[in-house]
Amino acid sequence: MPGAVITGWGIAVPDKVVTNEDLSATLDTNDAWIVERTGIRERHIGGTTSELAIAAGRQALERAGCPAADIDLLVLATTTPDAVVPGTSATVQEALGTGGGAFDLNAACSGFVYALVAAHGMALAGATKILVIGSDTLSRITDWDDRTLAVIVGDGAGAVVLEATDGPGELLAWDLGADGSLRHLLKCDTGGYLFMNGKEIFRHAVRAVVDSSRAALKRAGLQPADVDVFVPHQANARIITAARERLGIAAERCVVTIDRYGNTSSASVPLALADALETGLLQPGATVLMSGFGGGMTWASAVLRWGG
Ligand code: ACO
Repeated sequence: MPGAVITGWGIAVPDKVVTNEDLSATLDTNDAWIVERTGIRERHIGGTTSELAIAAGRQALERAGCPAADIDLLVLATTTPDAVVPGTSATVQEALGTGGGAFDLNAACSGFVYALVAAHGMALAGATKILVIGSDTLSRITDWDDRTLAVIVGDGAGAVVLEATDGPGELLAWDLGADGSLRHLLKCDTGGYLFMNGKEIFRHAVRAVVDSSRAALKRAGLQPADVDVFVPHQANARIITAARERLGIAAERCVVTIDRYGNTSSASVPLALADALETGLLQPGATVLMSGFGGGMTWASAVLRWGG
């Protein structure tokens, strides 16, 4: 059965680091509260969604040894496009010189996993080399006087190159979901600021990650105990811990990067994936579970055998 495998990855974050201490200078908050309630210590702030996407995409192409012109599809997951029209993927396409089609995908913080699953489908439909990017600059839609949101957002991008193969592909199973009746919990009207009902999102998020992960694992014929590396969306360290414990996945198999990056929306899963690769936690043959949730509400899980 032909499939697809990830052959390169890259990340990009703005140079500017904003610490909890920095935020405490202008907001009624403090390092102890932010660390205890969210797990975040610092975040990178700045740049545009396209700039970060281009840098991450370029790195992924280089690592894959793949000329940009060989790419026959670019999928950019973002919830903070540079403009309403054109899609931010158009800017990225021109800068990198990728071939084939290019489109944006908005599934909020679930965006990268949605895009990865969609890209695997396109590989089965005939695409040979696909660049999948998750890039977001939540700082640009954040009211910096709103301490609830200002302490959790961060900017960044992560990218992977997905190549079709005649051998076994890496995607074992997936689960995508949406419940639009919950869209009022996390929203941003055109030109406005992000609004979030943190408590309600928290409650739904844990359930979404647990149920979606279980559904995807079941389709793969696997149990949570079979997961070698768990790559969850990084929105709050307490959400990650609650979901991980309910699933029964050991802490040392779970990637946590929120302390350094905050919530980077579509970039959070690929940033965490790159971290697992760089630390050596993720090795060829490993069973990887990615799971994200976000505005919509949306949720998405994918089970991969790393390397196919
Ligand atoms: N600093 C200090 N105190 C604060 C802060 C802050 N930044 N924010 C809230 N507080 C206070 C509150 O006023 C409240 O005080 P009170 O007890 O005197 O009333 C107290 O801390 C507790 O507030 P809660 O809202 O109950 O805090 P909670 O533990 O729920 O944490 C948080 C808030 C971090 C937002 C949490 O609800 C959360 O992470 N929710 C999920 C967020 C999420 O997953 N979002 C998904 C996508 S996000 C996106 O796309 C941007």
